Amino acid sequence: MIEPEILPDHESMSRRAADWLVERIRQRPDSLISLAAGSTPKRTYELLAAHGESERATFLSCRFIKLDEWGGLTMDDAATCEHQLQSLLIEPLDAARRYTAFQSDSLNPAAECDRIAGWLLENGPIDVAVLGLGINGHVGFNEPASYLQPHAHVAELSTASMGHEMLLKSNGLPTYGVTLGMADLLQANEILLIAGGSTKRGPVERLLSGQLTTAFPASLLHLHPRVTMFCDENAMPTI
Ligand code: GLP
Repeated sequence: MIEPEILPDHESMSRRAADWLVERIRQRPDSLISLAAGSTPKRTYELLAAHGESERATFLSCRFIKLDEWGGLTMDDAATCEHQLQSLLIEPLDAARRYTAFQSDSLNPAAECDRIAGWLLENGPIDVAVLGLGINGHVGFNEPASYLQPHAHVAELSTASMGHEMLLKSNGLPTYGVTLGMADLLQANEILLIAGGSTKRGPVERLLSGQLTTAFPASLLHLHPRVTMFCDENAMPTI
C-alpha cells in the first residue's frame, strides 16, 4: 500500500527526500539511482548536492542514470532533463563518470534506447528510482496508453507533457520522448515518489484510489512492495 508521508511545504518535503536519499546511499554506497527531472525534485537535488560537498566520501561511488529525456532537443538546451541534472547534481557531485544518460538528439532514438536498455541489463537493477508524478499520471515518459512498455523506449509525448513548464525554456519543441520503461521501475529495489503543489492534488487522489490502469501509469506503482512517497500539504486531496 502506498501511504504518503505528508510534509507541510515544498522545502520540508525536499529536505525529507534528500535526507532519505542520503541514508540509502550511506547504506549502499554504490547505489544506482535513477533521476527524474522536472520542478518537483529540483530542491531535493540541490540539498543532495550540498550533502555531497560536506560529506564527499559518502558519494564517491554512487551511480546515476537519467530516467527520461525530451527527444529532438540539443543536449545543451536549457529545457532538457540533462541540463537540469548536470547543473544540479552531476557536476556538483563530480559524478560524470558514474552517470549514464539518454542522448536527447540521437539520429537513431530506438538504437539509443537499446543502448540504455543494454547498459541497465548489465549494470542494473536500479536501487532507488526517484520519480515525479505527471499531471496525467505519467512516470518518466511512460504516458497513459492502452499498453505500457517494459524497458527503455521511444515515447509519443502526450498533450499534457508537451505543455510541461520545462519546455518554456527551450529553443525548440521536442518531437518524442525517451524513457526507462515500467518494468525497469518496478524492478528497482525501492521507489521514491515525490509530489508537491496543488496541481498534483488530482493526480495524487487518483493514485491513492488504488485503481490500477495503464491509463494512469503511476497506478502500477502499487505493484511495487517498497514505495516511499513524500507529499506536501498542497498536493494532498481534502478528504
Ligand atoms: C516531466 C518529466 C518527468 C517528471 C514529470 C513531472 O515530463 N519527464 O521526469 O517527473 O514530468 O514533472 P514536475 O515535477 O515538473 O511536475
